Amino acid sequence: MSRVLNDSAPVKDEVRKRVEAAIEALSYRPNPAARSLRSNKSRIIGLLVSDIQNPFFMGLIRGVEDEALKHEYSVILCNSNESPPRERQYLDVLYMERVAGVIVVPTSENLGEEALRRFRERSVPIIAVDRRVKDPSIDAVLSDSIRGAREAVGHLLANGYKRIGIITGPERVTTGRERLESYRQTLISAGIPPDSELERIGNFTIDSGYALTEQLLDLTPRPDALFIANNMMTLGALNAIHARHLRVPEDIAIVSYDYTQWAEPGPVSMTSVMQPARELGSTAALRLFQRLRNPEISSRQEIILAPTLQIGESSRPIEGSRAAAGVAALATEQT
Ligand code: RIB
Repeated sequence: MSRVLNDSAPVKDEVRKRVEAAIEALSYRPNPAARSLRSNKSRIIGLLVSDIQNPFFMGLIRGVEDEALKHEYSVILCNSNESPPRERQYLDVLYMERVAGVIVVPTSENLGEEALRRFRERSVPIIAVDRRVKDPSIDAVLSDSIRGAREAVGHLLANGYKRIGIITGPERVTTGRERLESYRQTLISAGIPPDSELERIGNFTIDSGYALTEQLLDLTPRPDALFIANNMMTLGALNAIHARHLRVPEDIAIVSYDYTQWAEPGPVSMTSVMQPARELGSTAALRLFQRLRNPEISSRQEIILAPTLQIGESSRPIEGSRAAAGVAALATEQT
């Protein structure tokens, strides 16, 4: 029977037919865990994302799952909820479950030496997706946050906005830090000195978006635009703005990140940096399966995908506003 199940040795046709009929009649299904124990090879991979409620990660999960099914692997999905201790716990669980490989959206640049050593000893490859980790042996599949933030802030400057605030993610993750650095660099290149009063560090959640927007709206003068480094914080920001009966973009313009149309509470379409979430997932999975097929691969690979800036009404210049005055002045200068 195992020869038929594992196709491990030649079997006479009539024997194969008899075994397959018995499997059918008994609806026998091989136990993957038992099988992976015997063959020391698992057909299961672990996928550890940082926020299962965030539509951005749903796209990424879908990309991994699509590729895994094509390669006849199943996926164990775990959610660290942006919590490093929870991430460690799940890495332990995936180790105990003897997964063949791990794809992780890291909650910081340090996945924990102990966890990495144990997976390495068992030749279980780990791929970081969306964010980098410090460990030099871990491949990474990312989208270009520097470029995304530069295009977002550059777009607001080109539309005449000058007092641009930022709400970014935790500095312990590369996306949060890189979007802040690029925001500053883009302002500097436009001759505007960055002002820490206009900078806020959130944790990629709706609540932090709401609370930090409140703080920025309290400033005098109020920022004329906000660059918000993810979709959930943008939802919070919109709620805070509407709570003060302010309008987007008339009173304050917004450029977001990964903003999904179906979350559109307001009357205006959102300008947003869009990351290829599904492609990030499928590319990370492809790299994992490449490593599983060729365990001798030693060199680290970093794949960077390009984001796109989707223009909406939330960032258009406003007639008669300071912004429009800025654009008009610029246009006169150029003629
Ligand atoms: O929404 C979560 C954010 O964190 C995304 O922009 C993604 O890039 C991640 O790093």
